[in-house]
Amino acid sequence: MTTDEKKTELEKIAQEIKTFKGLDIAKNATHAVPGEGNPDAEIMFIGEAPGYNEDQQGRPFVGQAGMLLEKILQEVLGLKREDVYITNIVKYRPPDNRDPFDAEIAACAGWLDRQIKIISPKIIVTLGRFSMVKFIPGVTISQIHGVARYYHELIIFPMYHPAAALRGTTMMNAFRDDFAKLKNLLAPQAKIEDNTPSQTSLF
Ligand code: URA
Repeated sequence: MTTDEKKTELEKIAQEIKTFKGLDIAKNATHAVPGEGNPDAEIMFIGEAPGYNEDQQGRPFVGQAGMLLEKILQEVLGLKREDVYITNIVKYRPPDNRDPFDAEIAACAGWLDRQIKIISPKIIVTLGRFSMVKFIPGVTISQIHGVARYYHELIIFPMYHPAAALRGTTMMNAFRDDFAKLKNLLAPQAKIEDNTPSQTSLF
């Protein structure tokens, strides 16, 4: 797919997300938050769900957690947010920032799968546990953060959520250290464990 074709397809998905009214959180959203960034990105970040600021602006990771993500992205990888693609598991803000319900994750899953397929990134970075379990179920984030593994043709790199990193020095250090490992993964000779479950298909 050319970059223009990718842009067109991503815009179609964004329109579907913006006009969808099949969830209460969709009906009540100030703005849906489909995701944004470079359609040819090597790295795709997947967070949990929009918060207050994201709902106000219709853009992912624009609050405090987003500022941290942008700062470390620039400091460690020398990348700007426009260089990567940023989205969430759930495309609408859950009230009072509660955890997303399974039904909300399921309703948004088709859009996320299509976004992944179109962008076809080299690495998917999951931010927090909700996006991690989509690819790596049955583990805790404290056990596996910062360790890349293949899931089908995708490299999944689980990280703590930047909001967790903002809560204390230990988590902040872990968040930074994991970013540094992400840098090594972008090297062509990176060695990665294969975690693909047998006989299943991602899409
Ligand atoms: N937290 C998330 O998981 N996603 C956002 O877009 C903002 C905060």
